[in-house]
Amino acid sequence: MSAPTISFVDVHDDVALAAWHGAESASVNHERPLALQRSLPALTASVQHPSAFVRRVLLAARRDGEVVGTAELVLSQTENEHLAELEIHVRPEHRRRGTGAALHQAVDEIRRADGRTTVIGELYLPLGGSAAGLDFATALGFTSVHTEEHLAMRLPADPITADLLTREVPGYEIVTWTGRCPDEHRAAYLSMRNQMNLDVPTGQIDATPVVIHEARLADSELRTARSYITIVAAARRVADGAMGGYSVVLLDRSDHVALQDDTLVMPEHRGSGLGMQLKQATRAIVEAEHPERQAIHTWTDPANAAMYRTNISFGFAPVEILHEMQRVD
Ligand SMILES: CC(C)(COP(=O)(O)OP(=O)(O)OC[C@H]1O[C@@H](n2cnc3c(N)ncnc32)[C@H](O)[C@@H]1OP(=O)(O)O)[C@@H](O)C(=O)NCCC(=O)NCCS
Repeated sequence: MSAPTISFVDVHDDVALAAWHGAESASVNHERPLALQRSLPALTASVQHPSAFVRRVLLAARRDGEVVGTAELVLSQTENEHLAELEIHVRPEHRRRGTGAALHQAVDEIRRADGRTTVIGELYLPLGGSAAGLDFATALGFTSVHTEEHLAMRLPADPITADLLTREVPGYEIVTWTGRCPDEHRAAYLSMRNQMNLDVPTGQIDATPVVIHEARLADSELRTARSYITIVAAARRVADGAMGGYSVVLLDRSDHVALQDDTLVMPEHRGSGLGMQLKQATRAIVEAEHPERQAIHTWTDPANAAMYRTNISFGFAPVEILHEMQRVD
């Protein structure tokens, strides 16, 4: 089988971007009924308005003019400059013909030229099963260094269960916002976001936690707002105003799912059910203000017992297993 033609994608060429996204979508959704993929508008916004903190490279593999495979390389510009994040997809009907290997070789040359010595990539396995991606990555020398479960639940939640789980934690009030964090909460929100980056389990991934400062938060709020509605609930201790935790839900503006992103309870506020209260608060907003949302998804390390148990009680059920695969030169 001859090699496919590999080329850079011009991210300002909407037709090329749509063809690239179509190939990625065919791969992502193959045999994964609850797979999630960023929408074409979200991809377009992210590559056409790039962040100063990240360099993103898209490659397409073509056979007879058709995009049969995709590769994406993400290179952080401000921290973890030894690290390259990689994702490769091949259309199901074009697999086992060397396209994935050719894409890997092309991105590997780019990351080496950029001085990156650790490569990580995500892949999904069905519960109790395997997938081509694992064989592919293993053949290339990658090993699994961290796993998370992808969990999902239908919306609206069962009202009786939701009611039973919605308990106010004495001594706290819930504050919520949509989109940009209001000025009066920004300092506390930044310290909670940074605590989240320190506390979230990441297994043996060879990366240092990212430190978010005001400029980076503002950049991320602006960029996220192009494609997602962000809903945040935070718990404030009434006695002294201290912020005890937060939970974030993202709603892609161009589809009908909801993503349960960060949930953190600050160390000295743990053990009284704030995590569940925060999740119930964002769920209630999603159901009241965005009734078109049919499902909510999240990702949790099962070894993270407190968060995992909260998610199962909340109504989430495991869908598939995410593996972070890594290779160090
Ligand atoms: C993983 C994936 C990209 C492979 O693409 P591909 O074009 O089929 O890969 P190649 O034909 O270049 O295979 C290269 C090597 O990977 C291994 N491999 C790939 N698919 C395999 C499978 N189904 N079973 C066993 N080994 C496999 C083999 O060693 C193969 O070499 P060989 O054909 O000489 O034996 C493709 O299956 C895919 O898109 N999967 C979903 C997304 C994903 O998991 N991506 C990887 C993580 S970023």
